[in-house]
Amino acid sequence: MGTIVITGSAGGIGQATRERLVRDGHEVIGVDIRDAEVIADLSTPEGRNAMIGAVAAASGGRIDGLVAGAGITGPEPEQVVSINYFGAVATVEGLRPLLAQGTDSSAIAISSNSSTTLVELPDGLVEACLNDDEDQARELAGADPSTAYATSKLALARWVRRTAIGTDWIGSGIRLNGVAPGLIDTPLVAENLDMIMNLGDVYPIPIGRPGRAAEVANLLAFLLSPDASLFCGSAAFLDGGGGAARLPRRRPLLRLGGVQGRRQRRRPQRRRLARRQHHRRPLAHRGLTAPCPRRREPPCGTLPTSGSNAVIVFEAR
Ligand SMILES: NC(=O)c1ccc[n+]([C@@H]2O[C@H](COP(=O)([O-])OP(=O)(O)OC[C@H]3O[C@@H](n4cnc5c(N)ncnc54)[C@H](O)[C@@H]3O)[C@@H](O)[C@H]2O)c1
Repeated sequence: MGTIVITGSAGGIGQATRERLVRDGHEVIGVDIRDAEVIADLSTPEGRNAMIGAVAAASGGRIDGLVAGAGITGPEPEQVVSINYFGAVATVEGLRPLLAQGTDSSAIAISSNSSTTLVELPDGLVEACLNDDEDQARELAGADPSTAYATSKLALARWVRRTAIGTDWIGSGIRLNGVAPGLIDTPLVAENLDMIMNLGDVYPIPIGRPGRAAEVANLLAFLLSPDASLFCGSAAFLDGGGGAARLPRRRPLLRLGGVQGRRQRRRPQRRRLARRQHHRRPLAHRGLTAPCPRRREPPCGTLPTSGSNAVIVFEAR
């Protein structure tokens, strides 16, 4: 049994997670702008710092788990980015020293399947987030309000993946993962629930209903537990089959050797086919290992003759 911090603890997913964890015998320290053990506004650096100090005091300087779940949608894209990305990252980074004192420590940031449902999200905003430039991120979000939520969640998933594998995290025995829920019936989406449920092929939900907050809580409880000891840097989607319906061939993504999947996908079809044919030519004669003259790394003849060049990549987008 441990001490778990949940941000956004007064919301739909936060409350359900609190209930599940308390039922499992954990102590929960809730953080929210309302109705929580620690009241804090995670949209500002001052609020984030105050939260870290208050959680340290409430926990005695040691926690075993963290769910960074505070998040918003809505008409203020600057706030969306500040809370969903910068608030979440500051929470996870700021509470890491407390996690380092815990047992089998595990942290989870709540991203969203919206990071994959929009076709082209602005790279500039993702980069500004990952470069920790909050001023620029807020400016870019303000210029393109409709993509701010999804982009903040995409950036968060990417930050989790690149951070989780570092020495401060898995190198120190602390697991960091992301979860990406689909449509979940909570106050966050209450106004638009019926509209989203009726988007059909644009936003398919094969399970035929919105998710329940308790279903997200179940996954969070598992990822927090030692049973999830091999999870590190994952972006776990729970979307009632929506991703599988929209992107049946895109994920998992198979990349061969050094070929950059995304760059390759963007090439015009004709050039792409010509190149594929050229590079595949040596494979028609198994055992032909002469390097392809037009590409140095790796030689074409060595491509899929063994499984060693194949990499399965789970991407946030
Ligand atoms: N509901 C969905 O369909 C859905 C889907 C994917 C991801 N998510 C994500 O899950 C997380 C939880 O969402 P939810 O559905 O429970 O929403 P919710 O609105 O019920 O809960 C969000 C909570 O965050 C708190 N919060 C908002 N601004 C804050 C601030 N500045 N400082 C501190 N706390 C603040 C709110 O008070 C609220 O209690 C969010 O990050 C959301 O983006 C939700």
